[in-house]
Amino acid sequence: MSDKYYLTTPIYYVNAAPHIGHTYTTLVADTIKRLKALQGVEAYLVTGSDEHGQKIQRAAAKVGKTPQEYTDLIAAEFENTWRTLGLGIDKFQRTTSPQHAAAVCKLFADCEKNGYIYKGSYTGYYSVTSEAFVADAKPGDVDPDSGQPLELLTEENLFFKLSAFQDKLIQLHEENPQFLQPEARRNEVLSFLKSEKLQDLSISRTTIQWGIPVPNHPGHVFYVWFDALMTYWSAVEGTGRWPADLHLMSKEIVRFHAIYWPAFLMAAGWPLPKRIYSHGWLLFEESKMSKSRGNIVRATPIQQVMGFDALRYFLLREIPFGSDGSFSYDALVARYNSDLANGLGNLLSRTLSMIHQYRDGKLPAPVEADHSAIATALAHYEAFEFHKALEAVWRWIGDLDKYIVENAPWKLAKDPSLDAQARLNTVLYRCFESLRLITALAAPVIPESAARIREQLNISGPLSWGHTPAGHPIGAVAPIFPRLDAKVAIEQMQQLEAAELERQNALLGKTPAEPQVPFQPLAETINIDDFVKVDLRVGIVLAADPVKGADKLLHLKVDIGEPTGPRTIVAGIAKAYAPETLLNRKVVIVANLAPRKLRGIESQGMIVAASLEGGSPVLAGFLEDVPIGARLK
Ligand code: MSP
Repeated sequence: MSDKYYLTTPIYYVNAAPHIGHTYTTLVADTIKRLKALQGVEAYLVTGSDEHGQKIQRAAAKVGKTPQEYTDLIAAEFENTWRTLGLGIDKFQRTTSPQHAAAVCKLFADCEKNGYIYKGSYTGYYSVTSEAFVADAKPGDVDPDSGQPLELLTEENLFFKLSAFQDKLIQLHEENPQFLQPEARRNEVLSFLKSEKLQDLSISRTTIQWGIPVPNHPGHVFYVWFDALMTYWSAVEGTGRWPADLHLMSKEIVRFHAIYWPAFLMAAGWPLPKRIYSHGWLLFEESKMSKSRGNIVRATPIQQVMGFDALRYFLLREIPFGSDGSFSYDALVARYNSDLANGLGNLLSRTLSMIHQYRDGKLPAPVEADHSAIATALAHYEAFEFHKALEAVWRWIGDLDKYIVENAPWKLAKDPSLDAQARLNTVLYRCFESLRLITALAAPVIPESAARIREQLNISGPLSWGHTPAGHPIGAVAPIFPRLDAKVAIEQMQQLEAAELERQNALLGKTPAEPQVPFQPLAETINIDDFVKVDLRVGIVLAADPVKGADKLLHLKVDIGEPTGPRTIVAGIAKAYAPETLLNRKVVIVANLAPRKLRGIESQGMIVAASLEGGSPVLAGFLEDVPIGARLK
């Protein structure tokens, strides 16, 4: 086995700030890097930012910034987030770096030299969101991925002869089942390659300025994927690390990686990456996270309340890697409390306290015990089955809990017989040595906590049983995973989340999003005859007084210009409006509502207000001046 390993995450678009979807891939990459270190392999992790293209150009213009100013800001957001979360990024590669641009030109030159580039013109429906022409689109079609409208575009493009690689790509995927995993993704790509004729690919644009200029083709900049994919190569140019051992990503960009990328490299005559692995989508309480739904969750607020390890553990334990999975704050806190606070944390403090109490903080002599979970967990890790690896490790924790209860060391401690004391030694050594190994196995997933646990164990050592010698002095016991009150923790995270969103918006010069209430289903459809039955009138408040014994009600006199004079209206708005603030205010009332008595006062109509679930009513009003008595229709 080579002692070097090169792995990548996608380079993220800078049209949005990082959220836990991006964090998911990046923390998995960090975990794999740490797993490699366990095997003595030095892994090199590259991530970065994808900064060119129309989408970014537009996002920048929207907030009044130049593309460069805008991308500098967001790329820094990504870099800072990874640093704050303690992710072991070895290189953050930006597509706007001159060295990257030179590398893209090199790839192009080699593809051109080998006869795989030609000039042509292209007309088609283009999706700005997906940065791709949508094949076979008709007028009025929308982008199948984003649902956004398409733009009809004709331009002179440079084309890459993707069609020349159909057979070679089929061969690549058939002969190397490991090249693309999981198997379901490989099957999708293979059946696509076998059933669809590959079209040549337009790899330049003349309609966009924000991109890497194509050498010798004035006015052309590279199309984003030709530019973006090259990051994996440019990030390690001259270090001898190419080819990559692993590209990680989620499923929506598998085709670009499994078809375009190897084709570009084959055309240039460069070595191919060894493996592509795609995971599923992280959903927020069952629906895909998206800016428009406003259900994006960021990792740093979670880190501040629970520690980043809690999120790492949750995502890797809860979601089979490769499948879609749901995030929810409730599930996160529940997992933390059951597995980390009660599971590992409890076993640690129990074991160490017993060693302090019964053996003066010194470990008894080694004994043999069942440690078969090591091999099981390592095999699952190797197969990227993180949830199964963690399940095996936590089963071990559960077995030890049972073992402690069955052996009742607190009873053995009180029994001075040699046999009882020998059994107590066995229990203590077995629990301690198991904990040392459990910590080592969990460390790639919960690195920060593992480091703190090791301080208390006062040892790390190899992944083999019996390494800790007799008499080993243990450290002081301190809680690692304090139990959390779910309600309090979730409220804190949501508040921090809102503050973080505001900070990011301010950074980008965006005005804060309009607050929205959860959308309620509409009432039954009515026709216009039904509507005209409701007589809504503009009135003015002439008097407002509290109603005795009813702290929610106000007694109002509202004039709608009737010859009979102002009406009496009793309105449930006392909590939201002090009576004096209503005087001379224009309001809307339902004027033909049958009168009804409230607290002995006859209310002759109803005042119209936006009513918020659990919140205060807000009276309807007008921005322009309106005469009293005007009807609303
Ligand atoms: N810039 C391209 C990638 C170019 S790679 C040469 C891009 N960027 S992106 O910002 O949209 O990032 C997509 C990637 O972010 C996904 O492939 C995945 O790794 C991660 N995720 C973003 N949101 C996600 C979820 N909701 N769920 C899981 N991962 C997702 O595509």
